[in-house]
Amino acid sequence: TERTPLIAGNWKMNLDHLQAIALVQKLAWGLADVRHDFSAAEVAVFPPFTDLRSVQTLLAADKLSLTLGAQDVSPHESGAYTGDISAAMLAKLDVTYALVGHSERRHGHGESDETVGRKARAAQAAGMVPMICVGETAEDLEQHGAAAIPVAQLTAALAHLPEGAEFVVAYEPVWAIGSGQAATPEQAQEVARALREHLRDLVGDERAARTRILYGGSVASQNIAGFMRQPDVDGALVGGASLKVDEFTRIIQFQK
Ligand code: G3H
Repeated sequence: TERTPLIAGNWKMNLDHLQAIALVQKLAWGLADVRHDFSAAEVAVFPPFTDLRSVQTLLAADKLSLTLGAQDVSPHESGAYTGDISAAMLAKLDVTYALVGHSERRHGHGESDETVGRKARAAQAAGMVPMICVGETAEDLEQHGAAAIPVAQLTAALAHLPEGAEFVVAYEPVWAIGSGQAATPEQAQEVARALREHLRDLVGDERAARTRILYGGSVASQNIAGFMRQPDVDGALVGGASLKVDEFTRIIQFQK
């Protein structure tokens, strides 16, 4: 089965809406020049909530071939949830993906597997594709090996999705995020393979073969090629490097 490679840029809490417009314009114009080299790849950006409207307007007006993602989503449909942003609000802004379970939400905001699963379900119910983030801490790695925690997190999240639902998996070892110390391509492949293996049991062979599994954690132009070469790694979730247009463009240009 052919899986379209996906390169996703998670801006985290960076860039106001004017800076967001500047970055997306530079990125899109640069990509237009080199697009023939990697036309197979899908490129997505995950701006902060306050930037989504301006980025969406820009993408729609210029017909730019970038996909929009949100960094989080409320598990609730609507109502008295001060500060939350609903899946319906995001879907209305042409947001395609919703990140759920990023380690900075799990560990920084105490989000449980249950919460992550409910967020995935809310995104899916509104017509978005949940991007389910999983990954082990350095301590988990020592105690349980690399794959056990990511597999358990994915299993827990998928329990909330109905049969046939589309989703993307992002494997991000917590120790590799923002540390400059990426996993090796072999480590990423080992966990991606284990995740796909479990997906076969959870959602069936066909869906498992079609589901994209990304690697994230200190991805840069110097190491992207190694990850993209792995049979079960279908792209990258890029943090810091996605804020630098030239660097992110170099990352996008490396394809299978
Ligand atoms: O969502 C992105 C990841 O947390 C990776 O961040 O590329 O800055 O290590 P990083």
